[in-house]
Amino acid sequence: MTSPVRLALLGCGTVGSDVVRLLHEQSEDLAARIGAPLEIAGIAVRRIGRDRGDLPVDPALFTTDALGLIKRDDVDVVVEVVGGIEPARGWLVEALRAGKSVVTANKALLAEDGATLHDAAAEGGADLYYEASVAGAIPLLRPLRDSLHGDRITRVTGIVNGTTNFILSAMDATGAGFTEALEEATELGYAEADPTADVEGFDAAAKAAILASLAFHTRVTAADVHREGITEVTAADVASAKAMGCTIKLLCIAARGADAAGRETVNVRVHPAMIPLTHPLASVGDAFNAVFVEADAAGQLMFYGRGAGGAPTASAVLGDVVAVARNRLAGVHAASESAYADLPVRPMGEALTRYHISLDVADRPGVLAGVAGVFARHEVSIATVRQGPAGGDAELVIVTHVAPDAALAATVGELRGLDIVRSVTSVLRVEGGA
Ligand code: NDP
Ligand code: HSE
Repeated sequence: MTSPVRLALLGCGTVGSDVVRLLHEQSEDLAARIGAPLEIAGIAVRRIGRDRGDLPVDPALFTTDALGLIKRDDVDVVVEVVGGIEPARGWLVEALRAGKSVVTANKALLAEDGATLHDAAAEGGADLYYEASVAGAIPLLRPLRDSLHGDRITRVTGIVNGTTNFILSAMDATGAGFTEALEEATELGYAEADPTADVEGFDAAAKAAILASLAFHTRVTAADVHREGITEVTAADVASAKAMGCTIKLLCIAARGADAAGRETVNVRVHPAMIPLTHPLASVGDAFNAVFVEADAAGQLMFYGRGAGGAPTASAVLGDVVAVARNRLAGVHAASESAYADLPVRPMGEALTRYHISLDVADRPGVLAGVAGVFARHEVSIATVRQGPAGGDAELVIVTHVAPDAALAATVGELRGLDIVRSVTSVLRVEGGA
C-alpha cells in the first residue's frame, strides 16, 4: 500500500462531523478502494473548544487557522464543508492554484462564483468535485458531468429543497396554511431557525444554477435564476390544485430552447407550480429530493433520495474524496469545466409557461366575455374554463395554454383591475402537462 492521501477538513458541523465518522468507520474499505489510506491532516473550525461529542478524532487535529492548514506541505486534498462565500472562496482558490484537489458541498459559492473556482482548478491542475452541493446524497452531478456527456440534455426539473417540500407536502396532506406547516417543519428540525434561504427559494436557486451549468455546458450563476419562494402559497391554492388533480411543488426548472429569434437559449427558474398527480415528481413527499432529467437519446431519467442531513451529505462528500484520491494516485485529473456552449440566459418574461387562475366574479351576462377579452388582448390562449358557485357570485377557474410568462403576468395584472372581477384568488404556474 502506498503512502496516505492526507486531507484538510474545513468545517466540522452537521456535515463535517459525519465525514469524520465515515472516514473512521470505513477506513479499511476506503483504503482498499483507493489503493492508499486516507488520513486527516487537520480540521479547521471556528470554535476550537466546542463540544463535539464522541467524535472519533484526535482533538489535537483541530485548528482555527484554515489557510495555514491548506498551505501545509503534507496536505494533498482539501474538503470544504463550512459554507458561505468568504472566506471559503479564498481558501479554495489557494488550494486549487497550489494543485491540491478540492471537494466541497458549498452550493452558495459554486452558484455565485463557480467560474473562479473552475479557473483556479485549471490553473493548478487540480480536481474540483462538488456532488454534495446539490441534492445531498443523490448521485446527480456525476451523471450530468460524466454519464450524460454523450447526450444532449434538454430539461432538468427538480425538487431540490427538502424543507420546502416538507412544508408543501404537509399543506397538501392536512390543508394547513403556510405558517402552520412551517411551524411543524421547525419543530421537527427540518426548517432552520432562520428559514429564509429555504422558503424564499435562495437555496433551490443556487442548486438550479449548478444543475443548469452542468446540463447545458454554460456558466449559469444564481443571479441568472428567476426565483420565487413558497411564502405566498395559500391553503386555497393547495385546494385549487387538488380540485385539478394536481399538487403544488417548489420546482427548479432548467430548460434549453429557441427564443423568438430562433437563438438557442437557456431559462432557469425556481417557483412553486402545480403538477399533475401522475407526474413522477408529484409523489416525492416529506423532505425528499428528486430530479427529473430529459435528454434527446436517454429520454427521461429520475434521481431520488435524501437531499440533506449529515450522513447523506457526507456520503456524497466521501464519494468525491475517493474519486479525487484515486486521480491523485494515478497522476491524472478529471476533465475540467465544460462551458463551451456559452448559451445566453433567456429572461423569465420570455419563458413559455402556463397559468392556472382562479377568480371570484359577478355572476351575470357578459362577465365571461369580459374576462376572456383580457386573455385575448394579451394573446394568451385559454385551454379550459370551469365555473362554480362562490357565494352570490361565481368562481371561474381558467387554465391557459403556454404563453410568454410576461404576457401571462400582464393578463393577471389587468384582471385584478377589472370591475367584474371581485378578486383573483389564486395564480399558479402549471408544469408537467396538466
Ligand atoms: P454547519 O453550520 O453545521 O457547520 C459549519 C462548520 O464550519 C462548523 O464546524 C464551523 O465551526 C465551521 N466554520 C464556520 N466558520 C468558520 C471559519 N471562519 N473558519 C473555520 N471554520 C468555520 O454547516 P453544515 O455542515 O450544515 O453545512 C456545511 C456545508 O455543507 C454548507 O456549504 C452547506 O450548504 C452544505 N450542505 C449542507 C447540508 C446539510 O444537510 N447540512 C446538505 C448539503 C450541503 P464550529 O464547529 O467551530 O462552529
Ligand atoms: N436546506 C436544504 C434543504 C438542505 O432544505 O434541502 C441543504 O441543501
